[in-house]
Amino acid sequence: MSESHAPTSGAMEGSNAKRGLWSSRLTFILAATGSAVGLGNIWKFPYITGENGGGAFVLVYLLCIAAIGLPIMMAEVLIGRRGGRSPVNSLREIASYDRLNPAWRMVGAVGVLAGFLILSFYSVIGGWAVSYVGTAASGQLTGQSAEAVSAIFSDLLADPMTLLMWHTLFMALVMLVVAKGVRAGLERAVSILMPALFLLLLTVVGYAMTTGEFGRAVTFLFQPDFSKLTTSGVLIALGHAFFTLSLGMAVMMAYGSYLPKNISIAKTSIAVCLIDTCVALLAGLAIFPIVFANGLEPGAGPGLIFQTLPLAFGQMPMGSLFGTLFFLLLIFAAWTSGISLLEPIVEWLEEQKGMNRTVSTLGAGFVCWALGIASILSLNLWADFTPLGSIDMLEGKTIFDLLDFFTANILLPLGGLLVAVFAGWVMSREAIEKELALSEPMFRLWYITVRFITPVAVGAVFVYNLFGA
Ligand code: PFF
Repeated sequence: MSESHAPTSGAMEGSNAKRGLWSSRLTFILAATGSAVGLGNIWKFPYITGENGGGAFVLVYLLCIAAIGLPIMMAEVLIGRRGGRSPVNSLREIASYDRLNPAWRMVGAVGVLAGFLILSFYSVIGGWAVSYVGTAASGQLTGQSAEAVSAIFSDLLADPMTLLMWHTLFMALVMLVVAKGVRAGLERAVSILMPALFLLLLTVVGYAMTTGEFGRAVTFLFQPDFSKLTTSGVLIALGHAFFTLSLGMAVMMAYGSYLPKNISIAKTSIAVCLIDTCVALLAGLAIFPIVFANGLEPGAGPGLIFQTLPLAFGQMPMGSLFGTLFFLLLIFAAWTSGISLLEPIVEWLEEQKGMNRTVSTLGAGFVCWALGIASILSLNLWADFTPLGSIDMLEGKTIFDLLDFFTANILLPLGGLLVAVFAGWVMSREAIEKELALSEPMFRLWYITVRFITPVAVGAVFVYNLFGA
């Protein structure tokens, strides 16, 4: 994607010149899915669902995906395609073309900052997955009890040097690809590995069905009990919808800038949202039966999948093989997302500061890696350090928790809100209509959503959480 190609039919005069376009609708879907499907689906979704009581939370999350995430994804892609440049400059380009305030480019800047902060702790979790490949491959999980499997995980978290090693390796993998430019090789790999991940998830779901607690898991996930839903749960569901779809941080804008004009933004965005949601729900169906069958806690927090899935792999036939494959694919899913997190800042350094790609990747990657050390230490030596603990809603949050909270629950929805306002109220309607090429009723539905529903919903959730109950 980042390499230059022949001039193309730019969305605005001269804007897409010298930039390549996706070769087909499928490549765009694969790349966008590669960014969207990651640790958010398999690691984060199940544990926040567990912490927030199940069904009602899942329902709110699904609503957020359909009513807020999908329209914003379409808005991001259309802004990217119309601007035809990296996010900050696409926004500047549209602003200057339509004689708007150039400060709108700051929407892209919020995204760049968010991606940078997310990658610092995302890479630490990616490192856990790397570590578990070895754990599974060496047969350490075979026949272990739930306690023994949990102990493997707590031992890992207690050891900063080991965590640092895996975090470094994961970050190096991300930097390697970004430094070289995201090539077709990655697209091809995504097209093989994503379906493989899907199949393996189905295999674990198949195993989970044999645990005897599948029905309880289905009830837990799909039967809403609103008494378990808190206002902060609603904020978390909203924030996660942005996180899992890679929204609010200009990634979809960047990817949209390579989308050929004749491809439907709505259809491709729907496909990405559907695949992403299916992977998350499958992960839930794979994990919760195992949790219940082994008397584990659904609200166990960030370690949930590292304590449940290994248990299943330790008990199923050929578990070492499946376990190794699973964690390899999890690394891959995290890797393609990690790349999309580093790409915007590297692109920005190149474009704005004139740095070459290798130097900007090394610079940005190094700072991100160093920031990741704070997240590593909050799992052990700094576990009791809660710098903003005096603020009610941040009580007990370590640096790691704060980074997660601040990015997913504040920066991403804020970025998404600004995108909605820009597309709904600022950009020319005519240009949008041309980009989306929807039937009149569908366009109207989308337009009303980004103009009114999204800003009001995101704004209300924010205000309620900051000043409410
Ligand atoms: N969507 C990714 C996941 O669910 O793991 C994480 C992510 C990637 C968030 C890229 C934001 C982003 F821009």
